[in-house]
Amino acid sequence: MNEPKSQAAKPHSAEFFNESRDYWWNLDFLRLMAQRLRFDDVRRVLDVGCGVGHWGRSLAHVLPPEASVTGLDREPEWVRRAGEEAARAGLGRRFTFAQGDAMALPFADHSFDLVTCQTVLMHLSDFGAGLREMIRVTRPGGLVFAVEPCNMASMAVFSSVTDQFPTEVVAAWLRFQLTMQRGKRALGLGFNSVGDLVPGKMIELGLRDVRVYMSDRATPMLPPYDQPHQRAEISQLKDWYAREHWMWDKATARSYFIAGGGQEPEFAALWQQAGRQMAAELAAMDAGTFHCANPHITYLVSGRVG
Ligand SMILES: C[S@@+](CC[C@H](N)C(=O)[O-])C[C@H]1O[C@@H](n2cnc3c(N)ncnc32)[C@H](O)[C@@H]1O
Repeated sequence: MNEPKSQAAKPHSAEFFNESRDYWWNLDFLRLMAQRLRFDDVRRVLDVGCGVGHWGRSLAHVLPPEASVTGLDREPEWVRRAGEEAARAGLGRRFTFAQGDAMALPFADHSFDLVTCQTVLMHLSDFGAGLREMIRVTRPGGLVFAVEPCNMASMAVFSSVTDQFPTEVVAAWLRFQLTMQRGKRALGLGFNSVGDLVPGKMIELGLRDVRVYMSDRATPMLPPYDQPHQRAEISQLKDWYAREHWMWDKATARSYFIAGGGQEPEFAALWQQAGRQMAAELAAMDAGTFHCANPHITYLVSGRVG
């Protein structure tokens, strides 16, 4: 199933490859993960759905220097840009990129020591089939390592603006989000809260030593918003607000809402309410009164093959 037309005009996830993505990880936490998951004997890495390479470049800090990374993405534009970004980061010799489908990886069985992905299973029509492919190309004893969110949990976070919203408004917001997420899934475009389900699926697919961690990174929005991640997030929000883009553009959001069982008039009201909320949040940022602990519920799930 392809993206709805409005989103399909751009390569997949184009709206999400902005500067904010550079602030997703605490490096000392990734070092701890590398230690816990024994990255020291990893030499061949596959980064499935690499996009422009943010995840692979983050991992490069904690992988052995001899490790080489292959990034794979369906979108030719991301494959090209990932190569440019890796070269710019001085990683050109260790990183190669290829175009291909996560659901039919163009690699032989047991080709890699570590097969990983970040926010990719959430976009697959059948994340179990995607995981099965990742397992197939991992050597016996190797590691499958998936980083996936529960966006429903992130949607339930309060800010200084939403804190006093009536219960019905908060409940309507959550129902709006869940209806769209379920609609996206019903259209075969993946489930944005798949992180909750990945560990169980790994067990079902025969992985052993399945472990679940959570990113220790919050990106608090606190006045005076002068940290790089805060400036990046405000600039993203302003850009989205100017284009009436609340996570998705309106046509895409509507198609997900309807596919999730929602009704057209209800969508119009909920879309407007979401816009009012974003306007209130931006105004509070301008006034220096906005604050939110701002966690992003992101799991790191690993399992050993064989
Ligand atoms: C949200 S982005 C994540 C990119 C990167 N992993 C990161 O964290 O920065 C999802 C990526 O998965 C890619 N993708 C989606 N479906 C795919 C598929 N079936 N095969 C390969 N790549 C896919 C998209 O093109 C996009 O680059």
